[in-house]
Amino acid sequence: MKKEILVTGAAGFVGRRLTRALGREGYRPRLLVRSERRFKELNPGVRGSVVEADLLEARSLNIAFEGVGVAYYLVHSMRGRAVGRSGDFAGKDRKAAENFVRAAGEQGVERIVYLGGLGEYGDRLSEHLASRQEVAKVLSSGKPTLTELRAANIIGAGGAPFEMLRYLVERLPVMVAPRWIDTRCQPIDIYDTVGYLAGCLQESRTAGARFDIGGAEIVTYRQMLRLYAAVRGLRRFIFSVPVLTPRLASLWVALVTPVSSGLASPLIEGLKNEVVCKENRIRELIPIPLTPIVASLRQALRETEAGSRIYTEDAFRKGSPH
Ligand SMILES: NC(=O)c1ccc[n+]([C@@H]2O[C@H](COP(=O)([O-])OP(=O)(O)OC[C@H]3O[C@@H](n4cnc5c(N)ncnc54)[C@H](OP(=O)(O)O)[C@@H]3O)[C@@H](O)[C@H]2O)c1
Repeated sequence: MKKEILVTGAAGFVGRRLTRALGREGYRPRLLVRSERRFKELNPGVRGSVVEADLLEARSLNIAFEGVGVAYYLVHSMRGRAVGRSGDFAGKDRKAAENFVRAAGEQGVERIVYLGGLGEYGDRLSEHLASRQEVAKVLSSGKPTLTELRAANIIGAGGAPFEMLRYLVERLPVMVAPRWIDTRCQPIDIYDTVGYLAGCLQESRTAGARFDIGGAEIVTYRQMLRLYAAVRGLRRFIFSVPVLTPRLASLWVALVTPVSSGLASPLIEGLKNEVVCKENRIRELIPIPLTPIVASLRQALRETEAGSRIYTEDAFRKGSPH
């Protein structure tokens, strides 16, 4: 009997696009979401069966995994967290991954495909990036083989990195930024990311292996801001100051952008870590043409202007329904 594909985090920024891409390739994935009603509102006509479950509630998971061969893991817990509250996103993400890998093992899932984060252990990683790596470790500890794709910032409408960039540049003619603005990163287009995720299904050599995924260009965050400004024809002045704590910077970003300070805070703390691919083996196994940053920014802007609820920041602005 043909095994099912499960997409966990199907309601998220990456998950929604992966679900659509798999649908276009003829798959009918099973979609794990926490609120079916909310998911269907945002994704009318999506192909695939929906199952409601919460990874933090182990008992809700067995049905989701029945008959599944490959399970995608596109989940993190930062959205519902608010600055000032001791929201333990790393603890929740550890627990969610433990429940996931246990249930997957018990139900005979063969493979997990996880989209994690770039960054090296021992590099004084931010809590967010360290947590992404911890999740990979937990997911690799079970019976299914793990494919881990590690990405830096993903460029796409509705994704936190693009929305932070968009609102900062659109709203601030003069910007005062932390000194980490000169850290290097290797952004990747959302559709290239989805291409790699979907490509793993066809390429058996990706099973049981870890890959860095990134676009063709390595830039600093300052250059990203400038590229966005150039695409939009805006004149912007950026100053960096030595003292701007992550907490202050995240409160300030929350004021200027629709991204909650709870999500902005760990992302901003992560700016101090260089996130650049250390190897490019994935390009040989899944040879997709990589989208230049400027083209990704233009596409994200087009989708934003199209105003589709699927692409706007709505989905993450409201945060978790729980
Ligand atoms: N966006 C980027 O730039 C980026 C960069 C590198 C890596 N990644 C990785 O890509 C993956 C997906 O991120 P994203 O940007 O798509 O995030 P997102 O839009 O915030 O989506 C996260 C998803 O996780 C789900 N989720 C959270 N807690 C859950 C739980 N307890 N049970 C079930 N589902 C739960 C959320 O469900 P609800 O809809 O119910 O809240 C949401 O659909 C993550 O692993 C992330 O680390 C993203």
